[in-house]
Amino acid sequence: MPKVTFYPSKKTIKARPGQTILQLSRVARVAIPTRCDGNAACLLCKVTIEKGTASPLSAGEERKLAERDKARGMRLACQVRVLEEDLVVRIPESRWKSVVEKALERQRLEEEEW
Ligand code: FES
Repeated sequence: MPKVTFYPSKKTIKARPGQTILQLSRVARVAIPTRCDGNAACLLCKVTIEKGTASPLSAGEERKLAERDKARGMRLACQVRVLEEDLVVRIPESRWKSVVEKALERQRLEEEEW
């Protein structure tokens, strides 16, 4: 039975071949944003498969993902399916989180100057 490990949380879960990464993230209680509930429409569920071989690009991914994202190995968690191999999946940090962290760091540095 293949296993899927999610980063950055490092949670690992057993998977059945054919399950999508989005389905498995819900079982593992790992947050992957979604607005279209798995219909390859919102593009919020982008992940990167860092290790292992997953299902080939679906028609939805071929149509929706930018060439740049495909070249970087990005996939849609709602479309990519587990095969027989273990996978390591990275969920990108949310843009808002990184913006807030940078603002807090800037504020902390300004306070240190006083
Ligand atoms: S959940 Fe919307 S594109 Fe995957």
